[in-house]
Amino acid sequence: MKLNLTGKTALVLGASRGLGLASAIELGREGANVMIASSNRERHAQALAQLREAGVTNADALVVDVRSQDHAQNAIDDTVARFGALDILVNNAGGPPFGQFQEFDDTAWQNAFELSFLSVARFTRLALPYLRRSGEGRVINIISFSVRHAVQGSILSTSMRMGVVGLAKLLSREAGHYGITVNNVASGMILTDRIRESALKNKLAEGKTEEQGLAELADEVPLKRLGRPDELAALVAFLASGRAGYINGTTIQVDGGLGRGML
Ligand SMILES: NC(=O)c1ccc[n+]([C@@H]2O[C@H](COP(=O)([O-])OP(=O)(O)OC[C@H]3O[C@@H](n4cnc5c(N)ncnc54)[C@H](OP(=O)(O)O)[C@@H]3O)[C@@H](O)[C@H]2O)c1
Repeated sequence: MKLNLTGKTALVLGASRGLGLASAIELGREGANVMIASSNRERHAQALAQLREAGVTNADALVVDVRSQDHAQNAIDDTVARFGALDILVNNAGGPPFGQFQEFDDTAWQNAFELSFLSVARFTRLALPYLRRSGEGRVINIISFSVRHAVQGSILSTSMRMGVVGLAKLLSREAGHYGITVNNVASGMILTDRIRESALKNKLAEGKTEEQGLAELADEVPLKRLGRPDELAALVAFLASGRAGYINGTTIQVDGGLGRGML
């Protein structure tokens, strides 16, 4: 299936590595101009090199902390200045810490809100005028399968992601009028730094080797393996395309069957 994103411009947040970078690569491979953004400039050279290796030359990078209102406005303005339009917004960033409810004070909740919910609302609001102009605008939020399957210790993350699900659903009903679709991609266990720094780290703390830890995590998944970032990115690229023009207001899991929810 040809997705034909040539001439489209995508802003992919949290894209110096992991699911964001994989999504940027997939969008670029399908022909889109890609602006990647993340908070640490030092990772950009490597990320852009990975894009080039994948054959994506129409890409650039911005330093953006998604929690900052100024950064958000600048990121939208700079993307439009660089590529002349904005058609596809991929909301993404690292997630809040894992832990039990009693461990988190107001500051932790405020940080999670700014990182995983307010950033999505703000970037989407600032991007909307350009997405309307596109006629085929796309908002794609990378969230977690925990919105359908209770994941122990994910209380900060899941509370915010549930808000994103509500935001996307309601916005899809308003923005559809302008040809804009709004959808969520819910990640299962996909091997990135985030998994290495959380689930795998817990296994190492139990005295397991990395190999044992990864094998135990994989064993939880019906497909008996962790996902690859490109497997989630393929869905992002599809949702960004005209081929997905009638998919709107949904949350789609990419989790190898891990989520036990029936819907
Ligand atoms: N991987 C999984 O299995 C999995 C499962 C469920 C949900 N998710 C969710 O999917 C999303 C992406 O996960 P991932 O595995 O790709 O994470 P990751 O490997 O930790 O990558 C996170 C990316 O976001 C950037 N980032 C972090 N904080 C940022 C900020 N304040 N502003 C801008 N960029 C920021 C990071 O770059 P810098 O640090 O340089 O800014 C990096 O590029 C997260 O929300 C995560 O919770 C992932």
